Amino acid sequence: MSGEVGATVEWEEPPLILDGGEVYRNPTEVKMSQIVLPCHANHCGELSIGQLLKWMDSTACLSAERHAGCSCVTASVDDIHFEQTIGVGQVVSIRARVNRAFTSSMEVGIVVTCEDLYSSRQWSVCHAFSTFVARRPEAGKLKQVIPHTQAEQIEYSLAAERRRMRLIHAEIIKDLLTNCPSQPADEHLQCSEGVPAERTRVESVELVLPPHTNHQVSTFGGQIMAWMENVATISASRLCNAHPTLRSIDMFHFRGPSHMGDQLVLKAIVNNAFRKSMEVGVCAEAYQGGEPLRHINSAFMTFEVLDHNKEPCTLPRIRPEPMDGRRRFQEAIARKKIRLDRKYIISCKQSEVPLSVPWDPTNQMYLSFNNVSALKMLAARNTWVLTSEKKKVSLYTLEENHMLSFKVETHVAVGAEKVFVLLSDLKCRHKWDPHYKECEVISHVDGDDTIYRVVTPSVSKGGKVQDFILLASRRRPCDSGDPYWIALCSVSLPAYPPTADYNRGEVLCAGFSVEEEATHTKLSYYNQATPGVLPYISTDIAGLSSRIYSAFTSCRTFLEENEDSVTSATSGAPATLGGHVTGKPL
Ligand code: COA
Ligand code: ADP
Repeated sequence: MSGEVGATVEWEEPPLILDGGEVYRNPTEVKMSQIVLPCHANHCGELSIGQLLKWMDSTACLSAERHAGCSCVTASVDDIHFEQTIGVGQVVSIRARVNRAFTSSMEVGIVVTCEDLYSSRQWSVCHAFSTFVARRPEAGKLKQVIPHTQAEQIEYSLAAERRRMRLIHAEIIKDLLTNCPSQPADEHLQCSEGVPAERTRVESVELVLPPHTNHQVSTFGGQIMAWMENVATISASRLCNAHPTLRSIDMFHFRGPSHMGDQLVLKAIVNNAFRKSMEVGVCAEAYQGGEPLRHINSAFMTFEVLDHNKEPCTLPRIRPEPMDGRRRFQEAIARKKIRLDRKYIISCKQSEVPLSVPWDPTNQMYLSFNNVSALKMLAARNTWVLTSEKKKVSLYTLEENHMLSFKVETHVAVGAEKVFVLLSDLKCRHKWDPHYKECEVISHVDGDDTIYRVVTPSVSKGGKVQDFILLASRRRPCDSGDPYWIALCSVSLPAYPPTADYNRGEVLCAGFSVEEEATHTKLSYYNQATPGVLPYISTDIAGLSSRIYSAFTSCRTFLEENEDSVTSATSGAPATLGGHVTGKPL
């Protein structure tokens, strides 16, 4: 099992030795190790995912409670992808720690590894992110997490991005489901063959007893997940008359609490069967006595059936029920697209991301997330080397994974918010950066994201001018002490293909961080050099040219001369300054 939305590091880094000689240990870190016994396994001798989810949830809950100093409940769990099974006799180790605390909620990162006791072989199993909410008697903000190591710094920074995505997740799904196309499915809907979906329907009830609850008598989220996984597995088996393997669980939210004495009604049905996988939907509702049912949670799980070679088998088609069944059948197709976008855009490692990701409004949130996360990860590297300093502009380089990146750092006597607003509008960049010859807005996607076409001079003498299609994603601070971010990366648009007159350039990861300091604002510009910009920067790094220094000296002057043009109205507004939209279809 592996992979997770926005997953980054595995927490393996050299030990940090504190001043007193002690090895640093994250105070919120909690570890649990379990030997997989037959009672934890299914009839195939594999650890039941429901059991694993319970262990992951309790470890994460203890970590959250250690930080919060009070009882906590699971609010949500991000997508989890499972790629391997764990056998009886193997040891599962779970480590959880709080990546960041917000007002009443905390993001907990969970890393699962497995160990074969007979061969001492150890391997990484999966990582996940859960959000816990503190149940505190008094209101007030949770104490902040202070990151110490580079890995903690990265996770702290990315936690703000993941939170943003989580909180709009329901909205994204709703939008996509509203706009999901019906054509491809119609053909299947007409099909009279296929297993009737009704045959896969499961309904089961559970009584919440003391072992299922914490000391505040709230039901453990992990227990509910385990019950949901159980009914989903039964439903999936009914489609294929075989043992199904759970591959992924979509991000979900615990909508309301459940308590000891509740009866939990769990309902599952196969919403759609694709060629090699199926989506099972599960809904959990709770009630006590004669009270009406309370909707606690809905989850969507993807199952496969594996043959002897662990290859997925072709599945029978499903014949959905009319009305709700047909709607869910269509919605499962839309969710499959979202799943693929999230898995391949967000969770792939930075080095595996293709240079220009195709722009598609339906995956805008993921591209924006990826854009900002890549910049935050580049900025958090602790191996930047100061190469030279001129006119109060410092140039740093970073050589990592066969990539050369550079960072330019300077300080300005202008407030961070104003610097952010002035630099957010790429159409103004030509005023200080001679490299930006032309810049047009292709689309103001929303307040945070804009797509531009930028034209720059040729990097080689007599060569063609270059053009770039850039997605600019902006973020204001999530908390005091956070920087502002303006991230840039290339996207490709069918309406703006490369043309013969221009060399199409690509930006893998670039952008600014703007940080308020005691007397000045620290401005940092980052760029992960692609072959197109390499000749431009290598002359500066080698000391043969001063173009970077003069550009950033001009940038300082531009900011100081224009700070008064940023009115309070503009500074509170979305981070874009005017600019026409061409209206050309994307
Ligand atoms: N994912 C992550 N965090 C979420 C969230 C989601 N989908 N929805 C809300 N939150 C966070 C908010 O960001 C907020 O955090 P902050 O204070 O750090 O900004 C916190 O939850 C409370 O926000 P609020 O607006 O008061 O949310 P709410 O009224 O929707 O309540 C829960 C959120 C989680 C407290 C509520 O839905 C709940 O009690 N759920 C059941 C939790 C539970 O009992 N779980 C165990 C299994 S039943
Ligand atoms: P929706 O019905 O809009 O899909 P719900 O949150 O009510 O959303 O349910 C989530 C999933 O749970 C459904 O997609 C379906 O797969 C399953 N489900 C819901 N109700 C039932 C039911 N009565 N019987 C079987 N499965 C159900």
